[in-house]
Amino acid sequence: MKHVIMISNQKGGVGKTTTTLELCSLFGKKYKVLGIDLDSQRNFSMYAGANLTSKATVNEVLNAEVLLEDAVQHLSDFDILIGSKELAEASKTFGEPDDIYLLQDVLEEVDTYDYIFIDNAPARSPLLYMSYLVSDYIIAPAECDDGALEGLRELGADINRFKKRKQTNVKVLGLLLNKSENTVMHNLAYEEMEEIGEELGGMPFRTTIRKSITVAEAKAARKSINEYAKNNNSAKDYKKLMKEIEDRIKAIEEEK
Ligand SMILES: Nc1ncnc2c1ncn2[C@@H]1O[C@H](COP(=O)(O)OP(=O)(O)OP(=O)(O)O)[C@@H](O)[C@H]1O
Ligand SMILES: [Mg+2]
Repeated sequence: MKHVIMISNQKGGVGKTTTTLELCSLFGKKYKVLGIDLDSQRNFSMYAGANLTSKATVNEVLNAEVLLEDAVQHLSDFDILIGSKELAEASKTFGEPDDIYLLQDVLEEVDTYDYIFIDNAPARSPLLYMSYLVSDYIIAPAECDDGALEGLRELGADINRFKKRKQTNVKVLGLLLNKSENTVMHNLAYEEMEEIGEELGGMPFRTTIRKSITVAEAKAARKSINEYAKNNNSAKDYKKLMKEIEDRIKAIEEEK
């Protein structure tokens, strides 16, 4: 059974792309994984080391011009469907009400993968709504910052809106405190995330991702952190996070 997990927070720069790449790389060593880049910035595609000159992007796949299996690029740990600069126009190109089902149409028949991770842009757009409609779970990274925590609250409002219209079954798998440091401010941010988690029905992961300069260095080298420096604190944290994600999914699915 495939698990579709979207990584989202409308606040920019909180670690969505870093988390998507790291989870694709770690899960990809154990499972069949597809990463989808739904952001016109294409940072996920770039930092994963994908070929950005390819014309077969998520844009062509959503427009049914290219089949998913023909568009995916096979990287060493996982497959990737690269993003497109044209996604910046998504509000126009995918502006019809039915367009929010396009990604669902693409993924419906796909049974090649155990996990699909979707990186989202820091904005509300038809692409974000497409993501809600296909995802089983959301992982929402945040950092110790009022805007990032506000972004988590907005996420809750969006989910409720879709649930009311019975358009999504998505569940908040967990909130992730990124760039964490051992300070009073960070402890307070974690406590606030626990309060927000109660409202969203998905608590913060026990694992937080420590702040490290290695994260930026790994990107410059076009590698995941675990490939670049596996003994680094952030790399170790993401490994722990993977285990927690597997455990949470197992617990939820055993309850069903
Ligand atoms: N644990 C960390 N320690 C230090 N720097 C980090 C950490 N996580 C992410 N960063 C840095 O923070 C910046 C933003 O990270 P990232 O691009 O993953 O965020 P994002 O939420 O995807 O941003 P956007 O909203 O623009 O898509 C990057 O420069 C990244 O290298
Ligand atoms: Mg990003």
